[in-house]
Amino acid sequence: MKHNYIYHFVLIVFLLTWACTNQHQKAAQVIETESSTIEKYRPQYHFTPDSAWMNDPNGMVYYEGEYHLFYQYYPDSTVWGPMHWGHAVSTDLVHWEHLPIALYPDSLGYIFSGSAVVDWNNSSGLGTKENPPLIIFFTYHNPLIVKAGGIDVESQALAYSLDKGRTWIKYEGNPVIPNDGNRDFRDPKVFWNEDIQKWNLLLSANDHVQIYTSDDLINWTKESDFGYDAGTHDGVWECPDLFKLKVEDTDKSRWVLIVNINPGGPNGGSGTQYFIGDFDGKQFTADTKDTKWIDWGHDNYAGVTWSDVPKEDGRRIFLGWMSNWDYAQVVPTESWRSAMTIPRELSLIRKADNYLLKSSPVKEMDMITNKARVVRVADQMIDGEKIIDLHEVNLNQSRLNFSFNIGDSQPSLFGFIFENELGEHIKLTYSSIAKQFWFNRTNSGDVSFSDKFPAISVAPFEINQTVYFEMFIDAASIEVFVNDGELVMTEIFFNSEPYTQLKVYAEGGAIDLTEGAFANVNSIWE
Ligand code: FRU
Repeated sequence: MKHNYIYHFVLIVFLLTWACTNQHQKAAQVIETESSTIEKYRPQYHFTPDSAWMNDPNGMVYYEGEYHLFYQYYPDSTVWGPMHWGHAVSTDLVHWEHLPIALYPDSLGYIFSGSAVVDWNNSSGLGTKENPPLIIFFTYHNPLIVKAGGIDVESQALAYSLDKGRTWIKYEGNPVIPNDGNRDFRDPKVFWNEDIQKWNLLLSANDHVQIYTSDDLINWTKESDFGYDAGTHDGVWECPDLFKLKVEDTDKSRWVLIVNINPGGPNGGSGTQYFIGDFDGKQFTADTKDTKWIDWGHDNYAGVTWSDVPKEDGRRIFLGWMSNWDYAQVVPTESWRSAMTIPRELSLIRKADNYLLKSSPVKEMDMITNKARVVRVADQMIDGEKIIDLHEVNLNQSRLNFSFNIGDSQPSLFGFIFENELGEHIKLTYSSIAKQFWFNRTNSGDVSFSDKFPAISVAPFEINQTVYFEMFIDAASIEVFVNDGELVMTEIFFNSEPYTQLKVYAEGGAIDLTEGAFANVNSIWE
């Protein structure tokens, strides 16, 4: 009887919360469509939640013409809290439709990060071969165990959908991987491994990655650990990913292991390291144990890749959370917090004696690049500062391409300054002496909310003669791709007014701007 009473109480609370959340979302949508431009700092072509708090991208999977994007979500506040999985779908990786929350916390805990797959052959038995289940793997994080000071806080669980991801059923035998004694034990990434005809699961456990195998997605066998003696260990390892990529212009393939780490990133706080190596289905062996970074800016974290992208397409598509745990919860946005990066295609190239993982904007970004508003410039020698004539292009929502020849007059410094009338600016500099890029946001606008925000990111890079930049600016972020993604820097900023002026500058020698093309990017919500 008592049980029944509690059940009804819980049901009523649940329904009320659901009704409020839904209403809240509708209200936010109205604000968005009617006045998206007056919501300060709201990106126009990056994914953001309608309202409230968002962190990691989760469960990215492609199925029946739709890219699913789930995300760590707390609908009741603009700071982190009991985690849900928010949900959106897209047919083109660019325009998104918000769907209802996919997973709510329950008595086993909050719903932490994870992945999703299509169980094509119904090896789990949770669907049928004709209607294969979509399966989500996530971490239960139990706040009651945290409160009691226990260690076994985190375990791995699954949920499945038989209706194209519209509704989700939590598996009754959860958790499928119980806690193993590691306090940090989370973020399962699952994929079908053709080579061994089995499923693999990776998770991060404090300072290393664990690798599992399974035939049915439910019973998992631990095979190995990776990373005790590799990579950076200045923080906790989180959100791993593992996939095979063809090395460009060869018939060779290598495995790429992504491991997020916080803190300990390349310029402080959160960052994403990767390793190149071999994987026999049970054990990953890195070619070298040093750390490589997928992005040298402050604001690309918890990134992983889409599962089940059709073979004919063949791309490995990555998306990251465009923030940093150092300040994510105090940035000055009002009704929501955080955006995702633009989706990026990963590719592997050989550079000098190393492999390098390139990230470039997905080609779908062309669809929203406003061709009617492209401005082109050609061949200009720049010595000192030069204001670039952008004509009609709105810097605040733009895509900019620049090619330079640094030639014989090799300037000691050159770069870009984005500025508003108040003198607030961001500055990207290349030093040919240090062979580094510096991204400076110390005078970018409001930097008062965190001591860690006003900072300069440093990234090593060698330019030989020519260099090509592609930059995406959207309200409060910039993503810089150098030489088609050989180096990437993603940074957010909070200027009091939009930047309206762009300068290119060179010191200690002139620079040849061989070509430039600047375009407006359309809003994805129109
Ligand atoms: C990474 C992370 C994950 C965890 C989630 C919790 O940002 O800490 O390791 O699952 O966020 O929201």
